[in-house]
Amino acid sequence: MTRADTGTRGVTVRVPAKVNVQLAVGAARPDGFHDLANVFLAVGLYDEVTAAPADELTITCSGPDAAQVPLDRGNLAARAALALAERYGIEPAVHLHIAKDIPVAGGMAGGSADGAAALLACDALWSTGASREELLEICAELGSDVPFSLIGGAALGTGRGELLTPVATGGTFHWVFALADGGLSTPVVFGEFDRLTAGTDLPVPAAAPALLDALASGDPAALAKTLSNDLQAAALSLRPSLAATLAAGTGAGALGALVSGSGPTTAFLVPDESTARRVAAALTASGTCRTARTALSPAAGATVV
Ligand code: C5P
Repeated sequence: MTRADTGTRGVTVRVPAKVNVQLAVGAARPDGFHDLANVFLAVGLYDEVTAAPADELTITCSGPDAAQVPLDRGNLAARAALALAERYGIEPAVHLHIAKDIPVAGGMAGGSADGAAALLACDALWSTGASREELLEICAELGSDVPFSLIGGAALGTGRGELLTPVATGGTFHWVFALADGGLSTPVVFGEFDRLTAGTDLPVPAAAPALLDALASGDPAALAKTLSNDLQAAALSLRPSLAATLAAGTGAGALGALVSGSGPTTAFLVPDESTARRVAAALTASGTCRTARTALSPAAGATVV
């Protein structure tokens, strides 16, 4: 089914990608998750999920990376529809179409975004009357990054990343994202983090005050100095070629660079739109990435369109 077919009826939700401007990772917990101080920033690369009445739960996906998206009940969009239907005693008779523009398995929460978008779209389609808190609760059950995809903007995630406190931002930040060939698995990257940090005493993760100040001031140079990702060494260990991508972007004029989440997408903070275009062109020409995209942050969370 094409996007136009589903777009004529049903509910469509637009949902942003994210970058972590700080990802502080603590020791593994008994439940296998890691305590985090995760400063999320929603960025203006979007997926759209359309929920339309159907005989049974089905999923389709369109977009350049559509072939890599699982269309079974393991997809977070399907899991979101099933969780909402179960909670409200509704038959999950819905077709979900994902128009995918967020890189797949790239560390930009594309799967989580689709979960949040499907939840909001089904909620509107079925008129469940669920409160925002109930939707956030279901999001947290679906995955650590899913609640942030619902709220968007900028937020500090603690616990395993699902406990959110909104964070102030003072203006628009310009980004370039270098997309890599193939994805990286989040659990594998956390496993590599465990291997690399074995035997070390990890501090309790906490948001850096200088980073929160930089976000609030809207000063990209200040934010660039404070960008940090504790998963970066693990992502680089698994994908050493990312070092060349980071060097290409900073060499072309980015103020700061880091691996986005668990990677392999790399993120470059730039001062303005013309630098964004220049850095994106240089990254593409460098041959160190598949392609480069520019985007603005913060972006609004999941929204019915
Ligand atoms: O919560 P989510 O399903 O997105 O997590 C995927 C995997 O990433 C988890 O199974 C776990 O291996 C790892 N993870 C973690 N600590 C977190 C979040 C995720 O170890 N705070």
